[in-house]
Amino acid sequence: MLELKGVVAGYGGGDVLKGVDLVVEAGTITCIIGPNGAGKSTVLKVISGLLRPRRGKVLFEGEDISGWPPARVISRGIVQVAQDRSLFPQMTVRENVRLGGYTLRDRSLVERRLAEVEELFPIVRERAHDRAGNLSGGQQKLVEFARGLMLDPKVVLLDEPSMGLDPRTMRTVFESIRTMHAAGRTVLLVEQNARSGLNAAHRGVVMENGVVRLVAPAHDVLAHPEIGELYLGGATRPA
Ligand SMILES: Nc1ncnc2c1ncn2[C@@H]1O[C@H](COP(=O)(O)OP(=O)(O)OP(=O)(O)O)[C@@H](O)[C@H]1O
Ligand SMILES: [Mg+2]
Repeated sequence: MLELKGVVAGYGGGDVLKGVDLVVEAGTITCIIGPNGAGKSTVLKVISGLLRPRRGKVLFEGEDISGWPPARVISRGIVQVAQDRSLFPQMTVRENVRLGGYTLRDRSLVERRLAEVEELFPIVRERAHDRAGNLSGGQQKLVEFARGLMLDPKVVLLDEPSMGLDPRTMRTVFESIRTMHAAGRTVLLVEQNARSGLNAAHRGVVMENGVVRLVAPAHDVLAHPEIGELYLGGATRPA
């Protein structure tokens, strides 16, 4: 459904992505892992329109969306949840989530969507009137997910959603990723917590130095001896 073909991209002089080929199947959770600087975030930026590819193509449902501006990519059904905290801290949780639907003209649709995302993320209702800045980091992440779902996207892009979270909150975040997926979304995420990311995913993608080195079922990547040594602190060896 989402496909990168020979994507070359960079920020100034050199190329960061050196010919990325990647297929993300509809209805799957795909997790990209790899060392710092491999180009993982850059892949998401090329998809979401924050960075225009120099060569190659991004195809979505057969349509060439390469180089589209971010707003157009969003309205096409691809939403990215930022890596940094991005809520307005002085606004309430509900106001922040409602903002996710700011492009919707139909107010009743906004309220309907709000009710739906509150169903998926109970914290949005429980803390509706609290200032977003008063929530913990993990709670804010869940609110960011909820805000991203206001436009009912087909694809959700997540850049290191577990960053800086304690193990328990991290589990909640990964559960929410599965919740978003169960509600019919395709999820493409980047994770430094490679083991947790792959455990939540169907497909694993290993990037190195601006190219895709390996694409395989997530459990195969988890069991891959060399990848395990490099990124997972040793593979789980058969007894
Ligand atoms: N805005 C930018 N301007 C210039 N160079 C950048 C910019 N963003 C990233 N880069 C460079 O592009 C390369 C790949 O960066 P990218 O953020 O895609 O890596 P990453 O795989 O997401 O790494 P990390 O795991 O550290 O998040 C790095 O060498 C980085 O310095
Ligand atoms: Mg990154």
